[in-house]
Amino acid sequence: MSRLLNEYDYDSVHAQAGVLMKKRKHLKRSAVEGYLRHFDTKCAGSKAEAERAREVLPGGIQHNLANNHPFALAIEKAEGPYLYDIDGNRYIDFLCAGGPIILGNNYPAVRDAAVKLIMEKASVTGLYSVYERELAELIHSYMPGIEMFRMLGSGTEADIIAIRLARAYTKKKHIIRIMGGYHGWSDQLVYNEGKTTEEMLNGIPLDCFQNTHCVPVNDVEALEAAVVKYESEGGVAAFVMEAVGQDSGAVPTTKEYHREARRLCDKYGMLLIYDEVVTGFRLGMGGAQAIFGTHPDLTVFGKIIGGGFGCSGGIGGRKDIMSMLAAGVSAAAENKVKVGGTLSANPLTALAGITVIKELEEKKVHAALDKASDHFMRGIADITEKYDVPAILFHHSSILHIDVSGLQHIPYFYKGNDPEGERQLLDAYQNYIEFSMALAAEGLIIANGGKTYLPYGSIGIVDDALDVYDRVFRQYE
Ligand SMILES: Cc1ncc(COP(=O)(O)O)c(C=O)c1O
Repeated sequence: MSRLLNEYDYDSVHAQAGVLMKKRKHLKRSAVEGYLRHFDTKCAGSKAEAERAREVLPGGIQHNLANNHPFALAIEKAEGPYLYDIDGNRYIDFLCAGGPIILGNNYPAVRDAAVKLIMEKASVTGLYSVYERELAELIHSYMPGIEMFRMLGSGTEADIIAIRLARAYTKKKHIIRIMGGYHGWSDQLVYNEGKTTEEMLNGIPLDCFQNTHCVPVNDVEALEAAVVKYESEGGVAAFVMEAVGQDSGAVPTTKEYHREARRLCDKYGMLLIYDEVVTGFRLGMGGAQAIFGTHPDLTVFGKIIGGGFGCSGGIGGRKDIMSMLAAGVSAAAENKVKVGGTLSANPLTALAGITVIKELEEKKVHAALDKASDHFMRGIADITEKYDVPAILFHHSSILHIDVSGLQHIPYFYKGNDPEGERQLLDAYQNYIEFSMALAAEGLIIANGGKTYLPYGSIGIVDDALDVYDRVFRQYE
């Protein structure tokens, strides 16, 4: 019922999503109740902490990733493949801090480099450090298209600057993106046809979205039609895409689509921007662009290039475009683009990024992750088969898609206000959060109800992780 699919075979993934629309299964109610009791008793410290936090932190948490159901788990330690909460429970960590932790928690080489820097030098000065150049040179050595690189505070910031730069360079106005893709939470890019909620839009003037448009994934004709439409209304500055597709490839892009996107960008004079916040240095040393064999004009980075430390973001690409970024004294020069950030490019993040990237190469981490991910996903396919649970299963290297809800695919089946689409959304969402809750109760934390990450440090325990999934899937009906 659920075989392992090829990560570039959109048609098969879409067809399997169609199966989920009709045959989605859920955790038995008795299992859900048991898990809720588990959290009440075994995670009482986290529960009390969550109630207290709600008094001083809006919503009780500070980031969506921590939005565990039924309440946020208070984590006090992360070591190797595991996370530990304040009640002393241990979890296999397949969240990887949302992506940055590719090697494993507290990985010795990275930790030691950071501690040495803090003890012997300085973690931040506000001035230039050689680590910034070293990181840029290192990235360029693996991604030749990154002729220049600029560190920033987050992926969100890097996406903001990418579209500003594209508009300044092309002198055009509109931005086209794939519907459902995530490019941070800035005013212009939070808009996300097919996924936009009122909460997302609250506080943002509608004018902000006037020049940002979404197209369905892998539909070359729809992309060209959008470009043609907006060419006469100020022109299209850029086509922005999560390189592997929305939500780290949950709705995957095909290789053909990448080639066509490049062709259309060249034909109409718009920039091709790859958001590689998740995929950069996770899919391989050359990122998604090496896999697709295409050359974006600009690439947005985050996560791994900061080695899991704060202020992890950056933008890189063609020298003629990147040279427009103002920094300090050149800010007044003609046709420069304003960008800043007090803590961007701090020595600690830059050195952590350098250390991680060197370690990835030295230990041949990607080859090991590809092999382990494949083994793990075949095991998951066997388990879903055994318990007859329909699922969409594939992986982009160590980004694992184990999707029993089909949530991200719903806009591709139901348009507008179709009541069946609304019903599907509610049903899939319930399935999505209960899946992560069940896995957490059984001792494994994932990134969200559809995708997760395998870190290098967990390769030795993937069979333990399979046992966790087995305990959860046996309770679906
Ligand atoms: C593809 C993509 N772009 C941008 C971002 C935003 O990055 P940040 O959370 O560092 O602002 C994310 C975050 O997960 C992402 O997955």
